[in-house]
Amino acid sequence: MHFLVHKTVLLRHSLLLIVAAVLFNCTNQRVTQSSIADRGYIADKAMVVSAHLDASRIGMGIMKKGGNAYDATVATQFALAVCLPVAGNIGGGGFTVYRTASGETGTLDYRETAPGAATETMYQDNNANVIAGLSTDGHLAAGVPGTVDGMVKLHQKLGVLPWAEVVQPAIDLARNGVVLTQKEAAGLNSSKEAFLKNNKHIPYLVQKQTWQKGDTLKHEDLARTLERIRDKGREGFYAGQTADLLVKEMQRGGGIISKQDLANYSAVWRKPIEGNYKGYKVISMPPPSSGGIALLQLLKMVEPYDLRTYGWQSAKEIQVITEAERRVYADRAKYLGDPSFVKVPQTQLLDEHYLNERMSTMQPDKATPSSEINAGQLPGYESEQTTHFSIVDPAGNAVSTTTTLNGAYGSKVVVEGAGFLLNNEMDDFSVKSGEPNMYGLVGGKANAIAPGKRMLSSMTPTILEKDGKLFMVVGTPGGSTIITSVFQAIVHVLEHDMTMQQAVAAPRFHHQWLPDVIQHEPDAISAEVRAILTGKGYKPEQRGPYGRIDAILVLPNGKLEAGADPRGDDAAAGF
Ligand code: GLY
Repeated sequence: MHFLVHKTVLLRHSLLLIVAAVLFNCTNQRVTQSSIADRGYIADKAMVVSAHLDASRIGMGIMKKGGNAYDATVATQFALAVCLPVAGNIGGGGFTVYRTASGETGTLDYRETAPGAATETMYQDNNANVIAGLSTDGHLAAGVPGTVDGMVKLHQKLGVLPWAEVVQPAIDLARNGVVLTQKEAAGLNSSKEAFLKNNKHIPYLVQKQTWQKGDTLKHEDLARTLERIRDKGREGFYAGQTADLLVKEMQRGGGIISKQDLANYSAVWRKPIEGNYKGYKVISMPPPSSGGIALLQLLKMVEPYDLRTYGWQSAKEIQVITEAERRVYADRAKYLGDPSFVKVPQTQLLDEHYLNERMSTMQPDKATPSSEINAGQLPGYESEQTTHFSIVDPAGNAVSTTTTLNGAYGSKVVVEGAGFLLNNEMDDFSVKSGEPNMYGLVGGKANAIAPGKRMLSSMTPTILEKDGKLFMVVGTPGGSTIITSVFQAIVHVLEHDMTMQQAVAAPRFHHQWLPDVIQHEPDAISAEVRAILTGKGYKPEQRGPYGRIDAILVLPNGKLEAGADPRGDDAAAGF
């Protein structure tokens, strides 16, 4: 069977500039239907788009062998644990949203949990001051990993190939080694000191000389851990030798994850957040991710405004979106947390009347300062290093998966002898009420630490349907910017007629209530628009590129278009 692999890496800089130029020429008018050259890689019937070409190829290979999108998800996830140590993981957690070919939807939550010995004030000193770095670096920053149990449960329920067959390609990749890209070599080099500081041993990610593009990184210990997972499934990670190694690592570094925590860990099937935007059905992740609720709030808040006529990233569009974003992130800070521990007012937060009321305080001629915005009053209620991949299989099953270690290389702790990095997801809790975390997000009681509780996430793996048929699979890493990046990719396609690749590549902006600034990528806001916004009291602040959206769009002819983010080494593979 013929198949193709597409890598955007060579095109990335020119593409970003071209997209920016095309779009700015079209201010205040719809972007004209793109020529084929503006489209991402096209496949006939099956596709994986992920942060690494090796992982996309492995996922595609599984589907070519007769595996479905769920088998491909497991294979891609384990492959990313090998070829993308900065974020791909078995020592972290994540979420999967799926839509079967017949239209059934579901989600799986394999978010990390706080260890049994965790306490609400564990990152504060005796004066209740937050101890810098304790929730972000080292052994105490790690939550109980969920990825492996998630993959096992996903495969048990929905996979068709034997488990060993879907895990094996990652083992082979780990043994043969991965050829480093420029970005990967630079990432490992810049984290060398942190690896040495946070480990008692010298982890294999460190070598005497600096890593160079083209070096091959082999993962011998990780290969053996993956073999135990291949042979014993869940028990290969949460019990036996891997659990022994992980708990020994905790004891060496003052961490608190115990054998009991590992034994207790269990991924959870959850009902998706579903809603409509102008006739498109949006299917996304419920709490403990804030992603689905926040995405639907944003879409419903902007729905009454004619973004299409305003024009792509015009002053009017940026104003409406910014005002919606600041209100949504204020709600997020107050109301969202692990639903097993707090009552999340999901129905009220998504109520159309409530959302219209929230937007009614927007003033066309000036910014609403965030200091004047609090969470809404609900009746009856008191590095960004993550990775996303999107998959569609030949039958039409679709899977949207975002997983994370939290920061780049997570806690920087490599479990000695087991070859995998542990997350620093504990920082996604509100370590102290009102204190910003590493993404500047603030939170309160709903997201306070408690044993066994899942920390609030922003991950937003999402699927869109149109007229009862699959339309888009989308998601991204990016910490607090995940929600607004997914939102913008959707708006780019639905309101500004961009191709999937254009929508992913187009420069983005982000507002999260606090701090009260519009963070934006270079070229996201033109000089003219900046002047208008500044005149109204908005504070645009340029920052570096963020997010790595990997998405799939179903074209009118049924073929699949990839959107592989040119900001990273992201790549599509399909047939
Ligand atoms: N660790 C990033 C998130 O879950 O939102």
